[in-house]
Amino acid sequence: MKYFQSTVQSNIQLTDDIFVMQVLRHEAPVSAGQFFMLKCWDKELTLMRPISVYQATEETLSFMYRVIGEGTRKLATLKEGDSISLLGGLGNGYPLEQLHGRIAVLGGGVGIPPLCLTAQMLQERGCTVDAYLGFRDQLFAIESFEPYCQDIFISSELGPEGYRGYITDLLKAEKYDAVLTCGPEVMMRKVAQICAEKQVTCWCSMEHRMACGIGACLGCSIPTADGMKRVCKDGPIFLSTHLFQQ
Ligand SMILES: Cc1cc2nc3c(=O)[nH]c(=O)nc-3n(C[C@H](O)[C@H](O)[C@H](O)COP(=O)(O)OP(=O)(O)OC[C@H]3O[C@@H](n4cnc5c(N)ncnc54)[C@H](O)[C@@H]3O)c2cc1C
Ligand code: FES
Repeated sequence: MKYFQSTVQSNIQLTDDIFVMQVLRHEAPVSAGQFFMLKCWDKELTLMRPISVYQATEETLSFMYRVIGEGTRKLATLKEGDSISLLGGLGNGYPLEQLHGRIAVLGGGVGIPPLCLTAQMLQERGCTVDAYLGFRDQLFAIESFEPYCQDIFISSELGPEGYRGYITDLLKAEKYDAVLTCGPEVMMRKVAQICAEKQVTCWCSMEHRMACGIGACLGCSIPTADGMKRVCKDGPIFLSTHLFQQ
């Protein structure tokens, strides 16, 4: 984990409310499914905002985010050359060393971005990866999965492309050694249920409002089968069987 000041390389609007921002990495450590706390304001907003790592190179980190409130609105105003504070990589990340064979990554909405770096790292470890990407209407990020995935399945609830409905309708969990999912809790619950029926291991990335991001304030604690756990420090990745009762 590292706290540092970085410089924005680009901040591009992809859809009505989705942006992708690239910043200099300054040798910050990162693994699949981890997130950074971001801040580009001084006094008016005190808390940093958690955003997952979408892509990483030796020199850069990319974050894909949806503008929903004050913090993300401010992030969206940043331009090339602007300064930004970062703290990370945070959280446990997906357990790459435990994952082998054929893996499905299944994301919904802004749960999709962290699965891109995850697919890349899984492919580098010799896994075969399929992606299941669920959208509400406007599509984004699909092409960035192509280098790392064998098959990519797409659904949208309202849009014109892909299967019209929920991405969970398309998942054939029995084809996989494990399923990794990130997105709305209702979607992850369904993925967990499908995986439980087929006895396939499922890892979920939980979201929670965060204050410190480093395990100190306990503000992001959630109940699990192992007792209360901090999403920022003990998670955000948990076994589905520890989160959801089937
Ligand atoms: C580990 C982690 C990783 C994340 N990764 C991404 C990512 O890659 N891309 C992305 O777009 N977003 C991601 N998020 C969500 C992101 O942190 C929030 O959207 C952001 O903090 C909102 O800040 P804001 O100031 O714009 O909105 P605020 O003004 O703080 O809130 C606006 C509205 O959004 C709700 N809200 C705020 N934060 C959350 C949250 N965490 N979950 C549910 N509702 C929330 C508030 O209740 C309020 O209604 C992640 C969250 C976590 C915990
Ligand atoms: S946000 Fe403070 S403990 Fe998780």
